[in-house]
Amino acid sequence: MSLNGKTALVTGGSRGIGRAAAVRLAAEGARVAVHYGTNEAAAKETVETIVAAGGEAFAVGAELGVDGDVDTLFEGLRAGLGGADLDILVNNAAVIDYADNIHDVTRESYDRVMAINVRAPLFITQRALPLMPDGGRIVNVSSGVTWFAQPEIVYAMTKGALNVFTRSLAKTLGPRQITVNTVSPGITETDMNGWLQDPDSAAKVAAIAALGRHGRAPDIGDVIAFFASDDARWITGQVLEVNGGLWLGPNDR
Ligand SMILES: NC(=O)c1ccc[n+]([C@@H]2O[C@H](COP(=O)([O-])OP(=O)(O)OC[C@H]3O[C@@H](n4cnc5c(N)ncnc54)[C@H](OP(=O)(O)O)[C@@H]3O)[C@@H](O)[C@H]2O)c1
Repeated sequence: MSLNGKTALVTGGSRGIGRAAAVRLAAEGARVAVHYGTNEAAAKETVETIVAAGGEAFAVGAELGVDGDVDTLFEGLRAGLGGADLDILVNNAAVIDYADNIHDVTRESYDRVMAINVRAPLFITQRALPLMPDGGRIVNVSSGVTWFAQPEIVYAMTKGALNVFTRSLAKTLGPRQITVNTVSPGITETDMNGWLQDPDSAAKVAAIAALGRHGRAPDIGDVIAFFASDDARWITGQVLEVNGGLWLGPNDR
């Protein structure tokens, strides 16, 4: 899976799944733009990890979901790329607001989560396309909450939107041989899921996964890198559930 000579942008590459994707893409030879919102220190740590392993990376800061977000991101990206193309785009950055159930959600919170999780990837992709050569790769990061119900309804709706985004975009970009796919993680240990630190909660998750544990960031990052590779050239418009066999059936038989 060589990505030598390729460039990649991973939104939310500073932490969690995005960091794992950035590290793996770089290990395969890509020069990676590690995007972050506010946590510059985490982005620097990701870049240092990549460089220490012999790879190439640079950090790009831009808070998404605010006015001018895409402009800021692409200013930093263009500076870091120094005139090179962008071969791989990973739309990974997202937020969940655990208060966003149907009873408590506010218009402000709805607008914020939609702006970060849906509007930003749409307009980042729009801006990336002129920089992307034919044969490029777009990987979106959705969630298993598109098929299992949970109370955080706005977050789930944003991920449903990304699945639709993937199919539509794959059709539009097919003539340019750009593939567009979605990686849909299950329950994965990152800062977003702090509750997994509780051993009882972790045990409950393990009990409903065929592979007997919750996910770890590299379990997902490695699959993102696969979709970015030449090995995945004949796959487009797909959503792949990457979740260790979550809820494949009842446990009592
Ligand atoms: N963890 C799970 O169980 C799970 C399950 C299904 C799907 N997912 C999806 O996987 C992706 C990564 O999640 P994660 O668990 O790795 O999350 P995480 O550890 O909370 O990291 C989130 C990343 O997104 C960035 N980000 C968040 N809000 C931002 C904003 N407004 N502007 C710019 N950047 C922002 C953060 O940047 P800073 O470091 O600067 O804050 C960070 O790099 C998300 O799309 C999430 O929905 C996660």
